[in-house]
Amino acid sequence: MNVMIMGSGGREYSIGRAMKDDENVDKLYFCPGNGATENLGQNVDIKDYHELAQYAKDNNIEFTIVGPEAPLVDGVVDIFKAEGLTIFGPSKEAAQLEGSKVYMKNFLAKYNIPTARYIESDSIEEVFKFIDTLEVPIVVKADGLCAGKGVIIASSHDEAKKAASEMLSGKSFGDAGLKVIIEEFLDGYELSMFAICDGEDYVLLQAAQDHKRLLDGDEGPNTGGMGAYAPTPLVDDELYQKVKDRVIRPTLDGMKKEGAPFEGVLFIGIMVVNGEPITLEFNVRFGDPECEILMPLMKSSVFDLFHKAATGKLNELNVEFYDKYGVGVVMASRDYPYSSSTPAEIVVDEIHHEEIKNNTHISYAGVKKEEGVLFASGGRVLVCVGLGYSIQEARDRAYALCGQVHFAGKKLRTDIAYQALRA
Ligand code: AMP
Ligand code: GLY
Repeated sequence: MNVMIMGSGGREYSIGRAMKDDENVDKLYFCPGNGATENLGQNVDIKDYHELAQYAKDNNIEFTIVGPEAPLVDGVVDIFKAEGLTIFGPSKEAAQLEGSKVYMKNFLAKYNIPTARYIESDSIEEVFKFIDTLEVPIVVKADGLCAGKGVIIASSHDEAKKAASEMLSGKSFGDAGLKVIIEEFLDGYELSMFAICDGEDYVLLQAAQDHKRLLDGDEGPNTGGMGAYAPTPLVDDELYQKVKDRVIRPTLDGMKKEGAPFEGVLFIGIMVVNGEPITLEFNVRFGDPECEILMPLMKSSVFDLFHKAATGKLNELNVEFYDKYGVGVVMASRDYPYSSSTPAEIVVDEIHHEEIKNNTHISYAGVKKEEGVLFASGGRVLVCVGLGYSIQEARDRAYALCGQVHFAGKKLRTDIAYQALRA
């Protein structure tokens, strides 16, 4: 069948890459895609979701997968389903788990899912009073979608109050900050876990770790993620079981009770504190760059997994993973994450070493194609992925590939997966 993937990042590229040779997939479409997804399928540039649904019908696109959160929060799944189309992702209501931190925190509290102590409020007096009860650092979050920038970790009470006031006045994030969450700081290590859900059942993928800060040693500003690896040895069977029993099962049961069964990718941001998984946040889509390493670790068909999830048939599926590790190193453009950079031609040297050639690949993100030449067009440009039978092997291969990829201003961390190698 024809399949469409919505989004334009490395995440969407990696989903397309994992599906392009699947026996069930005829043609891939990307909306809007990037300069490299053109090599996997056809890019379509339609912004209106009703128009896009019509395009899907006209082109016999029987299945659509949504990558990023914005179209989900805007209700693209509801629009496609109303047209009788099959689409993988949560409804507008279920997407509130990511779209509104207030909704998410109240949901966690209602269903007794462990999370940081918090208040949600739009009252400055109430917020200041609660801030005074907390020890530093203090976490201040805007309610709505802020492209990953709506979280401030304040190192003093005054800084927390200033951040909260600026959010509540609409100064920092407009309407997205008119309600805030103030919460206690959790001290532990962070995990990204992904449950592929059909409303009732789920398949849990291997736990990953992301590297959110721009610079080595977790220094510098927050980014969308500068690299990731999976599976992490920091998770054992007991911790997986705790996440299943205390987070995923109550979330799926709770969303059903709320009348918004969760179908799609449930991305659980977890902080492990003294061996206990505490839910930091939910996202309703894959992490990027986590997706780029999880897709090539899937031995079973990625198409089948998403399609069965979208049609309520996950209970029929027995998913297998390769017994390997994946490490992904992001190459970003010079001015990321501050501003866009001038386009720079990407040159990838030919790799002669068979072992590296066969165990690495690139997932392209911020790229455009002009007269057949690929240019880095800003932001996170691409992810160099290495696979191997140990994290060290996978990492060495990923970095060997990085050495073969060139564009002016390329920027990367040199310590991806350090958490695992230090353990
Ligand atoms: P969020 O958008 O809620 O995922 O927050 C972004 C990042 O801020 C998380 O990935 C964590 O690294 C950090 N963070 C958020 N909430 C807390 C918390 N309560 N304690 C410690 N770190 C946090
Ligand atoms: N890599 C984290 C995210 O996609 O939000």
